Amino acid sequence: MTGPTDPAGPADPESLRALAVDALLRARRRTSALTDCVEDGELTAQHSPLMSPLVWDLAHIGNQEELWLLRAVAGRDAIRPEIDSVYDAFEHPRAARPSLPLLAPAEARVYAADVRGRALDVLERTPLHGSPLLDAGFAFGMVAQHEQQHDETMLITHQLRHGPAALTAPPPPRPTATGGRPAEVLVPGGPFTMGTSTEPWALDNERPAHHRFVPSFFIDTVPVSNGAYLRFMADGGYTDERWWTAEGWAQVRKNDLSAPLFWRREGGEWLRRRFGVVEPVPEDEPVLHVSWYEADAYARWAGRRLPSEAEWEKAARHDPVSGRSLRYPWGDADPTSERANLGQRHLQPAPVGAYAAGESPLGVRQLIGDVWEWTSSDFLPYPGFAPFPYREYSEVFFGSAHKVLRGGSFAVDPVACRGTFRNWDLPVRRQIFSGFRTARDAPVTEGAI
Ligand code: AVJ
Ligand code: FE
Repeated sequence: MTGPTDPAGPADPESLRALAVDALLRARRRTSALTDCVEDGELTAQHSPLMSPLVWDLAHIGNQEELWLLRAVAGRDAIRPEIDSVYDAFEHPRAARPSLPLLAPAEARVYAADVRGRALDVLERTPLHGSPLLDAGFAFGMVAQHEQQHDETMLITHQLRHGPAALTAPPPPRPTATGGRPAEVLVPGGPFTMGTSTEPWALDNERPAHHRFVPSFFIDTVPVSNGAYLRFMADGGYTDERWWTAEGWAQVRKNDLSAPLFWRREGGEWLRRRFGVVEPVPEDEPVLHVSWYEADAYARWAGRRLPSEAEWEKAARHDPVSGRSLRYPWGDADPTSERANLGQRHLQPAPVGAYAAGESPLGVRQLIGDVWEWTSSDFLPYPGFAPFPYREYSEVFFGSAHKVLRGGSFAVDPVACRGTFRNWDLPVRRQIFSGFRTARDAPVTEGAI
């Protein structure tokens, strides 16, 4: 189990507590794996100005846990009040964090472990009801998600890091039967329920559930592959201004872009660097490390477009038989290793067409896991949005500067990934585990609107 289930949920407090303990322990195992695999010098180094030193993430994880579970929930005093400002993400941009008075690796480990010990103690004795922070163990679920989000951030730092590989994992499963599946499916027009009001650990920006009318459209049954993206490149995609928005074209020119991040051409072949290993680009894998501008340009070249966020969620959750929105494409059950590539079990996306057991009712695959998928939409609040428990999680990012990504990558844990989960980033970003799929309008005659 990854979290309390929707809509009924585990009614008894003991199973909620067990879910929270499990989510916290799993997050810490991941954090330790990401920070124990390199020498201290690599933890304090800045591997890219886009990222914090790994040791900042480590102590920030502990500091957020202290703020929410020890101070907000349990009413305790600060353990080390002087460090709060160092680990406040809004006070210092990532590029400035190496010059802060950071806790050394050994101190950061002790601090995070100390907070965790006390937090588990609080969890054991606190009733999981009676306030919005406590209901269904929300604060504990939020803290586990926060740690897992930073575990994905730290994996991005590992990908940017130079030098020999520090992490390894087995390859993801291959598709069992290929061919014979349609490239796209029609999502019939009509209303569907977007967002959630019942998923206990859903974050503020996923709420509340509301009806959206989505006209008929077609959507790709799998993410865009490296092979397809290579055809865009070979067709002069990066040198033809027609496919790009003005800002996208300016990015191409300014940074001399000609391929996804981490790719390079050698001896007539495209290679990529993946966690310290250089290998040929696999044509059947979803394209990874592209910006929103690149995704948008590819779609235009293909005579298509990116799906909107509402279209993506309808394709992922709408069950045309019951008319209900499911928690996940495959239904209401939690993710498993058969349904989705999540949780850093593998350090790359699975080939397109894998995870048949994760297919949506309409036949769309790999919506959850593998790669975050850029949508055409700006990151905006749903009608009735209320910031909870702090404005800086979502509200300060709403607006046209950020684009929404959906579905989750191989790097995100199931606790921080749902059919309703919303991620966002600047459209220039490509160090993130981002890919996309495309869509097109359906002619009015093809779908009942
Ligand atoms: C939701 C992934 C955009 O990493 O900036 C971590 C998550 N918020 N700490 C981020 C987050 C506060 C956030 N994203
Ligand atoms: Fe954070």
